[in-house]
Amino acid sequence: MHNFGGMQNEIYNAGTQGILPDYPVDFATLERRAHEALGPMMTNYVAGGCGDEHTQDTNASAFHHWGMVPRMMVDCTERDLSINLFGMDLPTPLFMAPVGVNGEATQDRHGDMAAARASAMTGVPFCVSTLGNDPLEDVFKETGDTPAFFQLYTPRNSELTTSLIKRAEASGAKAIVVTLDTWLTGWRPRDLNASNFPQLRGKVMQNYFTDPVFRSLLEKPPEEDPKAAIMLFAAIFGQVLTWEDVAWFKSVTDLPIVLKGICHPEDVRKAIDHGADAIYCSNHGGRQANGGIATIDLLPDVVAAADDTPVLFDSGIRSGSDAVKALALGATAVGVGRPYTYGLAIGAAEGAAWVLRSILAEADLLMAVNGYPTLADVREAGALRTG
Ligand code: FNR
Repeated sequence: MHNFGGMQNEIYNAGTQGILPDYPVDFATLERRAHEALGPMMTNYVAGGCGDEHTQDTNASAFHHWGMVPRMMVDCTERDLSINLFGMDLPTPLFMAPVGVNGEATQDRHGDMAAARASAMTGVPFCVSTLGNDPLEDVFKETGDTPAFFQLYTPRNSELTTSLIKRAEASGAKAIVVTLDTWLTGWRPRDLNASNFPQLRGKVMQNYFTDPVFRSLLEKPPEEDPKAAIMLFAAIFGQVLTWEDVAWFKSVTDLPIVLKGICHPEDVRKAIDHGADAIYCSNHGGRQANGGIATIDLLPDVVAAADDTPVLFDSGIRSGSDAVKALALGATAVGVGRPYTYGLAIGAAEGAAWVLRSILAEADLLMAVNGYPTLADVREAGALRTG
């Protein structure tokens, strides 16, 4: 059994030797320090979202109107935060959501590798994005013994799609996460005002540039003519998917197919009917549509419709208590997004691992204090809407 809450004793004990933590444990300080490290352009890209950013703000603030009722006189000296996902026993209920500019978040521009190392250090699975500064083969290697998933932006070229999936399979991916809400980019004022779209500047392209199918579509290799390669990427980036395509994905791979971006219970049922192995309830952190409803508020209906099918969840997780609330509302696994990318920005692998450990420590201690020794107890207790 892991003692995630023990991190607190490490910090207090170090304090008695005059040693303060290198990184913060709260989101507000983390965010401030990360913005300083990232600089204005990257801060806009990572922190920004769609429209006036109401959706991304409400994703986080909506956790405040969900609360949990503590139970007393329960022996919680040991807590079990483990889950079973895709037949694997995982020590934590967290995973690292795919973030396509991780590569740019560290000073050495190898943030995908650092994120993978943070995953290896913490046992928190990493969902590797299609967009990266290092080829997925190298990134998966760095995840060590911790299972990892591959997130697919489906190109408009089925041979390239198949190639990406096969490369992820060969690298040991345990699931393919197909992102549904991003066949084009949502309206992002911060990036538009700065006229900044990193991909068009040749960033985070390595999974395309190293792909044999992608390369075969070019007259000259990307190293010789990067401009043409970027134009090809822009031309074939986003395939519009419909429900019938789930069968195609299932025909290409035996890996579990996870559909990311599902928020409506009817879509949950369609996804399952069409063969999806897991639902991923997310609104992309409010980056794609400024629709205004927090994902945490949509989660209970998604979970009810999913029945026994696993539900992955993200959008707005900033702390351990947020994660526990999502689990209480029925999520099988909870995705951390911006916070670990901020960890990368201030401390590469160490920084991202610190952020994940902090979230786990807070979750563990909340369970201890609230009288929930296991995640089954968390789910049974549930969360109440307070406003
Ligand atoms: C993302 N997200 C994302 N999702 C995806 O499927 N593929 C990707 O490449 C990316 N890239 C990406 C870049 C940046 C800068 C951000 C912030 C997010 C969405 C991500 O997986 C997740 O859904 C959100 O990050 C959840 O919102 P919060 O909790 O980070 O606000």
